Amino acid sequence: MLKVGSERRVKVVTIVGARPQFIKAAAVSRAIKARNIMVAKYAKEERTINEVIVHTGQHFDTNMSEVFFKEMQIPTPDYHLNINSMNHGAMTGRMLEKIEEVLLVEKPDYVMVYGDTNSTLAGALAAKKLHIKVVHIESGLRSYNMGMPEEINRILTDRISDILCCPTDTAVKNLKNEGYVLTNDYPLIVKTGDVMQDAALYYSTFSSQNSSIVKDLKLVDRDFVLCTVHRAENTDDPIRLRNIFGALQKISECMPVVIPLHPRTQKILSTIDLLIPNCGDKLMIIKPVGYFDMIELLKNTKIVLTDSGGLQKEAFFFSKPCVTLRDETEWRELIDLKVNIIAGSDKKSILAAFNDMQYTIIETDINVYGNGKAADNIIKNFK
Ligand code: UD1
Ligand code: UDP
Repeated sequence: MLKVGSERRVKVVTIVGARPQFIKAAAVSRAIKARNIMVAKYAKEERTINEVIVHTGQHFDTNMSEVFFKEMQIPTPDYHLNINSMNHGAMTGRMLEKIEEVLLVEKPDYVMVYGDTNSTLAGALAAKKLHIKVVHIESGLRSYNMGMPEEINRILTDRISDILCCPTDTAVKNLKNEGYVLTNDYPLIVKTGDVMQDAALYYSTFSSQNSSIVKDLKLVDRDFVLCTVHRAENTDDPIRLRNIFGALQKISECMPVVIPLHPRTQKILSTIDLLIPNCGDKLMIIKPVGYFDMIELLKNTKIVLTDSGGLQKEAFFFSKPCVTLRDETEWRELIDLKVNIIAGSDKKSILAAFNDMQYTIIETDINVYGNGKAADNIIKNFK
């Protein structure tokens, strides 16, 4: 901790690298900025937070990275490591090495990591080995499928984290069930709410002024499906991928399907013999879009089909039913609320789930992800 006159400053290094982490970090960086302004103006709160941002480079296309920094006004990263497009071991290893170098220079009080990517695990491990406190945002999520790289990343990250910020009651329960033992008050398990809810609430108030995507795609006042597919278990299995795209093609015969396609999926589709006819306004495969476009698509869609973690929740935030193109989900509460259904990758199951879910009305007053104050609840823990 740095003492500056009578003011105490806490230094936090934030590690991000993948698209969903930019969106989550945007909410927390905003909260940090607001807190610092309040301290400067009223000196009501003793601590200011000095945030240093490290971008590992895991996601690097303009529309997978830069667009979020611009639209969401995330501070420019202090360090950019440019590490991407490698196998898991190489990617995580190189990130570990480079993040350690940054931490040795910066000497922060805390390192904050998000979610379950290779950037998350590398950041947590580098910090822990240097005895720096690790704060894990989106802690406690479990799919109970160790075949997923994300499950490995999140379990290992949780295990070495000091402050485990859980978005939901389920996440807290998952950690308690794993028998976390306190030593000198750590690890601290706190239910904070979900930072993606903070982001959705804030940015949706002005997304329409910044996006014309619904009009550009000629979807105004039309029912359409919003779909994303990128999960390794789907993209790396040609049978699953064929089934999913077979189902999407069928659905597009009765309702347009908009697919902002992840570069991972784009690359794989171009290497396997999966013929996707150019269906004009039926199957609309477009490049990944920015956050404002995504919110506008969410506001206007009839239903979401996805294997994304974040998009399942966002469907709920915008009161849209969701069909999950996976065999399980970490967001169990959505299944219990019957607003989301697990369809897996079987063509028939996806079509049946789509038919079942498309008329579902979502009650808007259910609150399982907090009230948009998750970021404030997280930064309160920086002491
Ligand atoms: C990663 C995360 C996953 C998360 C997803 C969010 C891991 C293990 N996986 O998966 O949990 O849901 O991000 O989107 O960390 N690529 C590009 N341009 C980019 C980004 C990626 O071409 O801007 C290509 C890479 O070169 C690589 C492929 O996409 O060939 C996969 O990228 P990678 O970061 O390894 O994993 P994701 O599938 O994006
Ligand atoms: N997203 C976006 N543009 C897109 C696709 C997704 O802004 O073209 C946003 C989406 O709204 C959500 C986040 O990216 O906020 C989810 O990221 P992704 O699906 O890549 O990762 P996951 O949540 O599965 O880890």
